[in-house]
Amino acid sequence: MAQKFHVTTFGCQMNVHDSERMRGMLASLGYEEASERGEADLILFNTCSIRESADSRFIAHLGEAKRLKGEDPQRIVGVGGCWAQSVKEEVFERFPFVDVAFGPGQIHKLAEFLNSDSISAQGYFEFEDFSGHLPTRREREFQGWLQISQGCNCACSYCIVPSTRGREVSRDPGELIAEAEALAADGVREVTLLGQNVNSYGRDLPPAGRIGFSELLRRVDAIEGIDRIRYTSPHPKDMKEDVIRVHAELPALCEQIHLPLQSGSSAVLKRMRRTYDRERYMDRVALIREHVPDCAITTDIIVGFPGETERDFEETLEVAEEVGYDGAFTFLFSPRRETEAATMEGQLPHPVKVERLQRLVEVVQRRAAERAQRFVGRTMEVLVEGTSRTDETRLRGRTRHGKAVNFDGVAEAGELVGVEIESATSQTLGGVAVKPLASLL
Ligand code: SAH
Ligand code: SF4
Ligand code: F3S
Repeated sequence: MAQKFHVTTFGCQMNVHDSERMRGMLASLGYEEASERGEADLILFNTCSIRESADSRFIAHLGEAKRLKGEDPQRIVGVGGCWAQSVKEEVFERFPFVDVAFGPGQIHKLAEFLNSDSISAQGYFEFEDFSGHLPTRREREFQGWLQISQGCNCACSYCIVPSTRGREVSRDPGELIAEAEALAADGVREVTLLGQNVNSYGRDLPPAGRIGFSELLRRVDAIEGIDRIRYTSPHPKDMKEDVIRVHAELPALCEQIHLPLQSGSSAVLKRMRRTYDRERYMDRVALIREHVPDCAITTDIIVGFPGETERDFEETLEVAEEVGYDGAFTFLFSPRRETEAATMEGQLPHPVKVERLQRLVEVVQRRAAERAQRFVGRTMEVLVEGTSRTDETRLRGRTRHGKAVNFDGVAEAGELVGVEIESATSQTLGGVAVKPLASLL
């Protein structure tokens, strides 16, 4: 009987994609996926360490793996991803039942470990390879990731990612286009370009044949069968006019830009080492509004950064009010090991952070709800993802703006339909499917 594996994924889309690579690689080794952890011979965790809450979520799951390993010592427990990379060999000291640990760039080493007859615990933490060439197992047939770079050359003072994912390395454009073409040929109609800082793509490539991010978008857009292109995450400092302009030009490129603000206070941004200030950020927003007036803008914001004063925080509220985000991820600052901000003076008490977060969420949600009203009465293109999570009689999908829609109608997952929007909240739209999309265009 085939060996079975189970993988639990924490963290960002990059990790979701890395887990797809793990699945693909394990399938090629003859493993089958178990539906529950208890049925697996190989129990894997793909971890995140972006905030303390990510660490504790994962560690809570490890208890069950320990118990299962106790029941059957033949089981293999593997820990991959950013948390593993950030603690390295310490994994084995803290959790002696773990057999193999590997960083985000070392997924292929898992195969090496499984093929060896090593019985001692192994850790793989070099930054060397790309998992780009590994086979993948996509979660949805019609949606695919394209990892365009790995690592991050920024030095945001709060962030653990540069130390877990290493320096930025862009993939060869030819290889990327070939991969995107293969995805399209395999039924993918929505592709999301992935990187820690996607719009710095290409700077590290050799001059011959080097292209930048907007040119890469152009080339993906030209691929037959790709109806939608998204990307995450860009950095405001690299959000140049050419990238904003292609949003207006390329038919497949979606009307959504994620523009992580982090803070509205220039003084805080400086200590965060974000390399832009409030004015420069607002200038990017103005440029987006000028070229792509209907574009959805989403963001990430951290509250309670060390030394953040009430006035600094009010500046964040002002920016949130002024921009009117279509959606925002809001976080409490969490000190991360070996980052500069973890030991900065002026760490704020937890209740202060929580109180600020609540005030911010109030503004973000109110503005997002207001912004969403512009869709009511319009017929929007929706990519159907399946049945609604809250009501089985309805369907669920996403607009090009990235808004989730619950709607009445008959359609298959993976289809593009027109949905007339009847209601809108900060998070979701509601509506009813109208004639086949082709007749609307
Ligand atoms: N490279 C991407 C994603 C980084 S992680 C980018 O720069 O946009 C996603 C978000 O987590 C960040 O944008 C930031 O808002 C948040 N984050 C990162 N480190 C954090 C920390 N130490 N505490 C709280 N939030 C953090
Ligand atoms: Fe972290 Fe900043 Fe790099 Fe994003 S850009 S991954 S926040 S260091
Ligand atoms: Fe987490 Fe690593 Fe992503 S720390 S957010 S899994 S890059």
